[in-house]
Amino acid sequence: MKVTKAELAHVAVKAEQYPKNQLPELALAGRSNVGKSSFINKMLNRKGLARTSGQPGKTQTLNFYEINERLYFVDVPGYGYAKVSKTERVAWGKMIETYLSEREELKAVLQLVDIRHRPSEDDQLMYNWMKHYGIPVILVATKADKIPKGKWQKQLTAIAKTLDKEASDPLLFFSSATGLGKDEAWRTILNHLKVTE
Ligand code: GTP
Ligand code: MG
Repeated sequence: MKVTKAELAHVAVKAEQYPKNQLPELALAGRSNVGKSSFINKMLNRKGLARTSGQPGKTQTLNFYEINERLYFVDVPGYGYAKVSKTERVAWGKMIETYLSEREELKAVLQLVDIRHRPSEDDQLMYNWMKHYGIPVILVATKADKIPKGKWQKQLTAIAKTLDKEASDPLLFFSSATGLGKDEAWRTILNHLKVTE
Protein backbone atom coordinates (compact mmCIF):
# COMPACT_ATOMS: atom_id res chain seq x y z
CA MET A 1 0.00 0.00 0.00
CA LYS A 2 1.21 3.46 -0.80
CA VAL A 3 1.23 5.36 2.48
CA THR A 4 0.55 9.01 1.77
CA LYS A 5 -0.38 10.07 5.28
CA ALA A 6 0.67 8.62 8.62
CA GLU A 7 0.58 10.23 12.02
CA LEU A 8 0.35 9.42 15.70
CA ALA A 9 -3.25 10.56 16.08
CA HIS A 10 -4.15 9.32 19.58
CA VAL A 11 -2.38 8.15 22.70
CA ALA A 12 -4.67 6.26 25.06
CA VAL A 13 -4.74 4.53 28.40
CA LYS A 14 -8.51 4.54 28.89
CA ALA A 15 -11.39 3.75 26.52
CA GLU A 16 -12.54 7.40 26.48
CA GLN A 17 -9.26 8.25 24.79
CA TYR A 18 -9.64 5.86 21.85
CA PRO A 19 -10.36 7.39 18.41
CA LYS A 20 -13.98 8.15 17.64
CA ASN A 21 -13.97 8.05 13.84
CA GLN A 22 -14.62 4.28 13.63
CA LEU A 23 -11.84 3.37 11.22
CA PRO A 24 -10.73 -0.27 11.37
CA GLU A 25 -7.85 -0.97 13.76
CA LEU A 26 -5.02 -3.47 13.78
CA ALA A 27 -3.09 -3.92 17.00
CA LEU A 28 0.53 -4.96 17.33
CA ALA A 29 1.16 -7.47 20.09
CA GLY A 30 4.33 -9.20 21.13
CA ARG A 31 7.00 -9.46 23.73
CA SER A 32 8.98 -6.37 24.52
CA ASN A 33 11.79 -5.77 22.03
CA VAL A 34 10.39 -8.13 19.38
CA GLY A 35 10.12 -5.25 16.91
CA LYS A 36 6.54 -3.91 17.03
CA SER A 37 7.45 -0.23 16.71
CA SER A 38 10.04 -1.05 14.04
CA PHE A 39 7.39 -2.98 12.12
CA ILE A 40 5.11 0.06 12.13
CA ASN A 41 7.88 2.37 10.94
CA LYS A 42 8.86 0.02 8.12
CA MET A 43 5.29 -0.55 6.97
CA LEU A 44 4.64 3.20 6.95
CA ASN A 45 8.03 4.23 5.52
CA ARG A 46 8.47 6.62 8.43
CA LYS A 47 11.75 6.11 10.22
CA GLY A 48 11.20 7.69 13.59
CA LEU A 49 7.41 7.77 13.80
CA ALA A 50 6.92 4.92 16.27
CA ARG A 51 9.52 5.17 18.99
CA THR A 52 11.93 2.26 19.02
CA SER A 53 14.86 1.64 21.28
CA GLY A 54 17.21 -0.87 22.73
CA GLN A 55 15.43 -0.14 26.00
CA PRO A 56 12.68 -2.71 26.44
CA GLY A 57 9.39 -1.47 27.79
CA LYS A 58 9.60 1.79 25.87
CA THR A 59 6.00 1.82 24.65
CA GLN A 60 3.70 2.28 27.68
CA THR A 61 0.49 3.55 26.16
CA LEU A 62 -1.81 2.51 23.32
CA ASN A 63 -0.51 4.55 20.40
CA PHE A 64 -2.91 4.93 17.47
CA TYR A 65 -1.23 5.61 14.12
CA GLU A 66 -3.72 6.81 11.54
CA ILE A 67 -2.86 5.73 7.99
CA ASN A 68 -4.22 7.40 4.84
CA GLU A 69 -7.35 8.26 6.82
CA ARG A 70 -8.37 4.62 6.24
CA LEU A 71 -7.11 2.55 9.16
CA TYR A 72 -5.10 2.55 12.37
CA PHE A 73 -2.10 0.59 13.56
CA VAL A 74 -2.18 0.42 17.33
CA ASP A 75 1.18 0.04 19.02
CA VAL A 76 0.65 -1.86 22.26
CA PRO A 77 3.23 -2.10 25.08
CA GLY A 78 5.19 -5.34 24.92
CA TYR A 79 4.84 -8.14 27.47
CA GLY A 80 7.42 -10.24 29.21
CA TYR A 81 9.73 -7.49 30.35
CA ALA A 82 10.99 -8.65 33.73
CA LYS A 83 12.06 -5.26 35.09
CA VAL A 84 8.56 -3.82 35.03
CA SER A 85 7.07 -3.67 38.55
CA LYS A 86 4.13 -5.82 39.55
CA THR A 87 1.85 -2.78 39.84
CA GLU A 88 2.81 -1.69 36.34
CA ARG A 89 2.22 -5.19 35.02
CA VAL A 90 -1.28 -5.29 36.50
CA ALA A 91 -2.10 -1.87 35.02
CA TRP A 92 -0.70 -3.01 31.67
CA GLY A 93 -2.81 -6.17 31.79
CA LYS A 94 -6.00 -4.23 32.44
CA MET A 95 -5.33 -1.68 29.73
CA ILE A 96 -4.60 -4.33 27.09
CA GLU A 97 -7.38 -6.65 28.16
CA THR A 98 -9.98 -3.90 27.98
CA TYR A 99 -8.80 -2.77 24.58
CA LEU A 100 -8.46 -6.21 22.99
CA SER A 101 -11.62 -7.74 24.40
CA GLU A 102 -14.00 -4.80 24.03
CA ARG A 103 -12.92 -2.74 21.05
CA GLU A 104 -15.30 -3.14 18.15
CA GLU A 105 -13.03 -1.41 15.63
CA LEU A 106 -10.29 -3.97 16.28
CA LYS A 107 -10.31 -6.22 13.21
CA ALA A 108 -7.21 -8.32 13.83
CA VAL A 109 -4.08 -8.49 15.94
CA LEU A 110 -0.65 -8.71 14.41
CA GLN A 111 1.23 -10.87 16.90
CA LEU A 112 4.96 -10.61 16.42
CA VAL A 113 7.35 -13.38 17.39
CA ASP A 114 11.10 -13.61 16.88
CA ILE A 115 11.84 -15.97 13.98
CA ARG A 116 14.96 -17.23 15.77
CA HIS A 117 13.19 -18.67 18.81
CA ARG A 118 10.32 -20.89 19.74
CA PRO A 119 7.42 -18.77 21.01
CA SER A 120 7.74 -18.17 24.76
CA GLU A 121 5.16 -19.12 27.34
CA ASP A 122 3.94 -15.50 27.25
CA ASP A 123 3.59 -15.71 23.45
CA GLN A 124 1.53 -18.86 23.84
CA LEU A 125 -0.67 -17.33 26.56
CA MET A 126 -1.26 -14.26 24.43
CA TYR A 127 -2.18 -16.27 21.36
CA ASN A 128 -4.49 -18.59 23.29
CA TRP A 129 -6.13 -15.65 25.01
CA MET A 130 -6.89 -14.01 21.65
CA LYS A 131 -8.24 -17.25 20.26
CA HIS A 132 -10.51 -17.51 23.32
CA TYR A 133 -11.94 -14.10 22.44
CA GLY A 134 -12.25 -15.05 18.77
CA ILE A 135 -9.84 -12.35 17.58
CA PRO A 136 -8.27 -13.04 14.16
CA VAL A 137 -4.49 -13.12 14.51
CA ILE A 138 -1.89 -12.48 11.83
CA LEU A 139 1.37 -13.97 13.09
CA VAL A 140 4.51 -12.19 11.98
CA ALA A 141 7.93 -13.76 12.49
CA THR A 142 10.28 -10.80 12.76
CA LYS A 143 14.03 -10.28 12.46
CA ALA A 144 14.19 -12.69 9.50
CA ASP A 145 17.41 -10.95 8.42
CA LYS A 146 19.12 -12.49 11.45
CA ILE A 147 18.99 -16.07 10.15
CA PRO A 148 19.78 -17.52 6.71
CA LYS A 149 16.89 -17.82 4.28
CA GLY A 150 17.30 -21.59 4.21
CA LYS A 151 16.20 -21.76 7.86
CA TRP A 152 13.04 -19.67 7.65
CA GLN A 153 10.64 -22.48 6.79
CA LYS A 154 11.85 -24.72 9.58
CA GLN A 155 11.45 -21.89 12.08
CA LEU A 156 7.97 -21.01 10.81
CA THR A 157 6.89 -24.62 11.14
CA ALA A 158 8.17 -24.75 14.73
CA ILE A 159 6.37 -21.49 15.58
CA ALA A 160 3.06 -22.73 14.14
CA LYS A 161 3.40 -25.99 16.03
CA THR A 162 4.31 -24.44 19.39
CA LEU A 163 1.37 -22.03 19.21
CA ASP A 164 -0.99 -24.71 17.88
CA LYS A 165 -1.85 -22.13 15.25
CA GLU A 166 -5.33 -22.08 13.77
CA ALA A 167 -5.26 -22.78 10.03
CA SER A 168 -7.06 -19.54 9.20
CA ASP A 169 -4.42 -17.37 10.92
CA PRO A 170 -1.66 -16.38 8.47
CA LEU A 171 1.99 -16.72 9.48
CA LEU A 172 4.36 -14.37 7.68
CA PHE A 173 8.05 -13.59 7.89
CA PHE A 174 9.31 -10.04 8.10
CA SER A 175 12.40 -7.92 8.53
CA SER A 176 12.26 -4.29 9.58
CA ALA A 177 15.94 -4.03 8.76
CA THR A 178 15.58 -5.00 5.08
CA GLY A 179 11.86 -4.55 4.35
CA LEU A 180 11.56 -8.21 3.50
CA GLY A 181 7.96 -9.45 3.68
CA LYS A 182 6.51 -5.94 3.60
CA ASP A 183 4.35 -6.30 0.48
CA GLU A 184 2.96 -9.61 1.64
CA ALA A 185 2.20 -8.13 5.07
CA TRP A 186 0.26 -5.27 3.46
CA ARG A 187 -1.65 -7.68 1.21
CA THR A 188 -2.63 -9.83 4.18
CA ILE A 189 -3.65 -6.84 6.29
CA LEU A 190 -5.80 -5.21 3.61
CA ASN A 191 -7.39 -8.54 2.86
CA HIS A 192 -8.31 -8.98 6.53
CA LEU A 193 -9.68 -5.48 6.85
CA LYS A 194 -11.52 -5.67 3.53
CA VAL A 195 -9.98 -2.28 2.81
CA THR A 196 -8.94 -1.46 -0.73
CA GLU A 197 -5.98 0.78 -1.55
P1 GTP B 1 8.69 -2.43 23.14
O1 GTP B 1 8.21 -1.08 22.71
O2 GTP B 1 9.65 -2.42 24.27
O3 GTP B 1 7.58 -3.40 23.38
O4 GTP B 1 9.58 -3.05 21.92
P2 GTP B 1 9.18 -3.20 20.38
O5 GTP B 1 8.54 -4.53 20.16
O6 GTP B 1 8.45 -2.02 19.89
O7 GTP B 1 10.63 -3.32 19.67
P3 GTP B 1 11.41 -2.21 18.79
O8 GTP B 1 10.70 -1.98 17.50
O9 GTP B 1 11.70 -1.02 19.64
O10 GTP B 1 12.74 -3.02 18.43
C1 GTP B 1 13.64 -3.48 19.42
C2 GTP B 1 15.04 -3.63 18.84
O11 GTP B 1 15.07 -4.62 17.82
C3 GTP B 1 15.55 -2.35 18.17
O12 GTP B 1 16.92 -2.22 18.47
C4 GTP B 1 15.33 -2.60 16.69
O13 GTP B 1 16.24 -1.90 15.87
C5 GTP B 1 15.57 -4.10 16.58
N1 GTP B 1 14.78 -4.71 15.48
C6 GTP B 1 13.45 -4.67 15.31
N2 GTP B 1 13.07 -5.33 14.21
C7 GTP B 1 14.19 -5.81 13.64
C8 GTP B 1 14.45 -6.60 12.45
O14 GTP B 1 13.56 -7.00 11.69
N3 GTP B 1 15.77 -6.91 12.20
C9 GTP B 1 16.78 -6.52 13.02
N4 GTP B 1 18.02 -6.90 12.69
N5 GTP B 1 16.56 -5.78 14.14
C10 GTP B 1 15.30 -5.43 14.44
MG1 MG C 1 7.70 -0.36 20.92
